[in-house]
Amino acid sequence: MTDATAETPSNEELAKQIKELSPWHMGIQINDDLNTGMVIAENGEIIVREDDKNDGISLLQLRNGFLKQIDAVYPDGVEDKTFLDCACNAGGYGFWLRERGLKHGIGFDVREHWIKQAQFVQKHRTSGPTDQLEFKISDLYDLPKLNLAPVDITMFKGIFYHLPDPITGMKLAADLTKEHFILNTSIVWGEEDGYMKYGIESRELLMSGVHGLRWFPTGPKVLAQTLKWMGFEHTKLLFCMQIDKANEGRVEIHAARTKGFLDNLPGEYI
Ligand SMILES: C[S@@+](CC[C@H](N)C(=O)[O-])C[C@H]1O[C@@H](n2cnc3c(N)ncnc32)[C@H](O)[C@@H]1O
Repeated sequence: MTDATAETPSNEELAKQIKELSPWHMGIQINDDLNTGMVIAENGEIIVREDDKNDGISLLQLRNGFLKQIDAVYPDGVEDKTFLDCACNAGGYGFWLRERGLKHGIGFDVREHWIKQAQFVQKHRTSGPTDQLEFKISDLYDLPKLNLAPVDITMFKGIFYHLPDPITGMKLAADLTKEHFILNTSIVWGEEDGYMKYGIESRELLMSGVHGLRWFPTGPKVLAQTLKWMGFEHTKLLFCMQIDKANEGRVEIHAARTKGFLDNLPGEYI
């Protein structure tokens, strides 16, 4: 079922490697005992989700919520589907889709740090299949250079607001997507929906973009209209919420080219 058959390192050795590859953002189950969302202290003690020991990077366990959405849209699994994960980080979504039979997935991220994590998971995960997945270091804007075949499902999460030209960037991914586009992004909270507001960010921080300039949408409407213009006529808002009473929020929209495709997904068409 997995690639991790040739040699099976001990949990102690795997935990050491998880620590060496830290900080992690994605909690991915490796085997019955180990999850990458564990910060391992010097004395070997396992500390789960303690952000101040994780270089300030949030450690998230997102598998179950994601698979609930996938199961709603694809009750028979995704055995005939292909997947593209833009800014894939440690590649969690691809591994979780493989648990539902995904035919093939490709994930890319601009930072080697994250791709090394994805490759570690691919090598050592026994909690689910890890074949039929590829991970590459690439800037989103270089996506055409990867010469990918169109895919059925695309994940565009945590990347829109790290781009100097998010419309061009998102269109590169949307044009490669045959059916289902998942957009999850930070937004500015408290402004009239329909605009984008610029920001400046570090080019070096592990979770940031690499271009310095960034744009935050002001709400779901501007995003839904953009997706419709890209050919995804049917847009469903899963949530739009304020974060910690700050002027920041988070939005998730699933978009489809075909009417009715997202009917079983909880949310509201917008
Ligand atoms: C906020 S994290 C989101 C990670 C993941 N998609 C998730 O939802 O958990 C932002 C990710 O985008 C990557 N990234 C930033 N700018 C990028 C670019 N221009 N092209 C590809 N990846 C980029 C970062 O390296 C980082 O892994």
